Amino acid sequence: MDVPGFALITGAASGMGRETAKKFAQDGAAGVALLDLNAEALEKVKSEVQPLSQNKDFKIVTHALDVSNEDEVNKVVSSVKEAFGRIDYVVNSAGIAFKHEGGGAFAETKDYRKVLAVNLDGTFFVMRAAAKIMLEQSPLKSTIDGRELQRGSIVNFASVAGLTGIGLSTAYCASKHAVIGLTKTMSEDYARRGLRINAVCPGYMDTPMTRQNPDIARALEDRAANWTPMGRAGQPGEVADAVIFLSGGRSSFITGSAMVVDGGYTER
Ligand SMILES: NC(=O)c1ccc[n+]([C@@H]2O[C@H](COP(=O)([O-])OP(=O)(O)OC[C@H]3O[C@@H](n4cnc5c(N)ncnc54)[C@H](O)[C@@H]3O)[C@@H](O)[C@H]2O)c1
Repeated sequence: MDVPGFALITGAASGMGRETAKKFAQDGAAGVALLDLNAEALEKVKSEVQPLSQNKDFKIVTHALDVSNEDEVNKVVSSVKEAFGRIDYVVNSAGIAFKHEGGGAFAETKDYRKVLAVNLDGTFFVMRAAAKIMLEQSPLKSTIDGRELQRGSIVNFASVAGLTGIGLSTAYCASKHAVIGLTKTMSEDYARRGLRINAVCPGYMDTPMTRQNPDIARALEDRAANWTPMGRAGQPGEVADAVIFLSGGRSSFITGSAMVVDGGYTER
């Protein structure tokens, strides 16, 4: 998939972030920085990822981090740059889901703010800190052909909830629509300077996010079986493949896109 550089992944301790870290290692990345709130799970993922690389110099670092904390984000992103010398790919997978009982009319401000703080502010803080670094670095050479390659590539996790409404999910849907807005507008700012910025929009996925909360798990069963044309939930690796494609040289003419990976959920 032409990802020879260094990747920084948030939400790397679980679900789609974890699978993405594994695929970077398998597909020849020089190193990965794994970031997440959950320090213990990060170490477990580190031990899963390391043996997947064929690269004897493969580097791997972990950082416990709350992406909604701007100062922490700036510190950690610059420490990753110090460790690797550059940051070629950023994947913003950290996120939380929340169902407001009774719908938006009864949503509590603290819940609304929390979802926006992690999903939207967190994505912005990481993207901003990394983009400044990427803009200063020399472009990476393609490993597949002579095509002009990028200074950096950022993939943000939106959702089908960034393209459609979903009941009881006011804050979550607002945050994911906004992630697409962030992605599109920042992609235009730097499209001529070698930065590509895209989003992925997963449909209903079989991950700890959807399995651990009983309300969300019920919605997953229903939406996967009855609303998804393929009749099933997606597996985390199926989205990780799209992230690797959007990160690397094979997507060299794609920027500002919101790629759906949803088993057909949004085709109607
Ligand atoms: N699971 C789905 O059906 C689905 C569908 C569409 C989009 N998404 C989005 O995909 C992304 C990954 O979801 P997943 O299903 O793999 O979830 P997951 O819960 O398995 O993993 C999310 C990770 O983010 C971390 N995280 C949460 N808050 C954080 C914070 N403040 N700072 C740092 N890390 C934090 C968690 O610790 C966890 O390891 C999320 O942005 C989610 O909104 C999920």
